[in-house]
Amino acid sequence: MFSSIFLVLVLVGLSWEQFVHSQNVDGNQFASPAAIPFMLSMANAQLSNLSSIINSELSSRFHFCSRDTQADWNKAFNFSSNLRFLSSCLQKTNGDFSKRLCTAAEINFYFDSMILQDPGSGSFLKLNKNCNLTSWSPGCEPGWACSVGPEQSVDLSNSQLFPSRMHDCRACCEGFFCPQGLTCMIPCPLGSYCPNAKLNRTTGVCEPYLYQLPPGRPNHTCGGANIWADVGRSKEMFCPDGSFCPSSTEQIPCESGHYCRMGSTSQNRCFKLTSCDGSATNQDIHAYGVMLLVALSTVLLIIYNFFDQILAARERRLAKSREAAAKSAKATAKAQQKCKGNGKSTAKVESCKRCS
Ligand SMILES: *[C@@H]1O[C@H](CO)[C@@H](O)[C@H](O)[C@H]1NC(C)=O
Ligand SMILES: *[C@@H]1O[C@H](CO)[C@@H](O)[C@H](O)[C@H]1NC(C)=O
Ligand SMILES: *[C@@H]1O[C@H](CO)[C@@H](O)[C@H](O)[C@H]1NC(C)=O
Ligand SMILES: *[C@@H]1O[C@H](CO)[C@@H](O)[C@H](O)[C@H]1NC(C)=O
Ligand SMILES: *[C@@H]1O[C@H](CO)[C@@H](O)[C@H](O)[C@H]1NC(C)=O
Repeated sequence: MFSSIFLVLVLVGLSWEQFVHSQNVDGNQFASPAAIPFMLSMANAQLSNLSSIINSELSSRFHFCSRDTQADWNKAFNFSSNLRFLSSCLQKTNGDFSKRLCTAAEINFYFDSMILQDPGSGSFLKLNKNCNLTSWSPGCEPGWACSVGPEQSVDLSNSQLFPSRMHDCRACCEGFFCPQGLTCMIPCPLGSYCPNAKLNRTTGVCEPYLYQLPPGRPNHTCGGANIWADVGRSKEMFCPDGSFCPSSTEQIPCESGHYCRMGSTSQNRCFKLTSCDGSATNQDIHAYGVMLLVALSTVLLIIYNFFDQILAARERRLAKSREAAAKSAKATAKAQQKCKGNGKSTAKVESCKRCS
């Protein structure tokens, strides 16, 4: 116990590269549980550096997609809430985790040939230093990655130099994807589900992905995820409809009373009165529709009755004024007849002038 605490204290003074180096020399010493939180925090710092590289690469290419692209991509690559996939990868890669991560140059290369490519022309990366016609290491296969080698170090933020990376090739970690034609790993964004693939013996396909094992290599196995692009080309990597994926290695079915669309990291609660079973991808808002219809018809009925009364009242008023007009017309006609009958009386002429 004392020795492992001492070890951690010594390690804090060392740089990460020295740490990785000494670990490669003597891996067993570092299997101590006390060293794991330290390794995890270092690996997380590197992963967040890598995430910010991916963020800036993506937002420079997709600035037209949304108003606040930087914030959107930050959300997609912010893994700080769930680091389980990272600690399992650290154990699996035996300490050379950071030597398997893609550098800025490799990430540029991937997004330039994959995302900006016309989907109709296929999903192939261009040939490069590590994977070309004369050299094709197992790490160039989909779902596999390699290390740069024990004596080498990598600068993740270097966007020009393509490192030579063909040492100790293995399957990609869960939660990462390793494209065909590149020998490094890229973290899967949140909202995707990237478990390790399983071989289907009838088809030779590494499920749930769509790649096959290379022929003539009996020792090669299925690796991790191999592609991350638009939904059209990499649907199998998105968290499916009716489930949510809090991290890229967990897939949880949506509970009843919630709905989950493709690519969800959490489930959404349905409104009250909506029917919404666990596998729902959307909430059923029929009840609200019916309520709206009833409310609208009530309002229409009220308006109709109201206008009916207004119209009747106007009709009554018009009838009254018509009656009054008829009465006064009759009275005028009578008065004029009287004036014509006895025109000689001067007193009556006066009153007749007033009438006419
Ligand atoms: C992350 O990037 C910063 C700035 O580029 C650098 O100073 C730091 O050492 C990097 N951290 C790791 C763990 O690579
Ligand atoms: C990542 O998420 C955590 C909380 O889950 C938050 O504190 C942190 O600021 C976020 N980082 C970025 C770069 O958005
Ligand atoms: C092909 O791979 C080899 C071995 O890594 C390398 O020396 C050579 O430069 C590569 N060729 C091209 C055209 O990239
Ligand atoms: C293998 O693939 C076939 C054809 O797609 C499928 O019917 C079968 O269920 C798969 N086997 C397993 C074990 O998934
Ligand atoms: C496959 O692995 C076995 C044992 O690890 C080894 O003896 C054999 O040579 C390997 N075959 C090839 C084609 O690499």
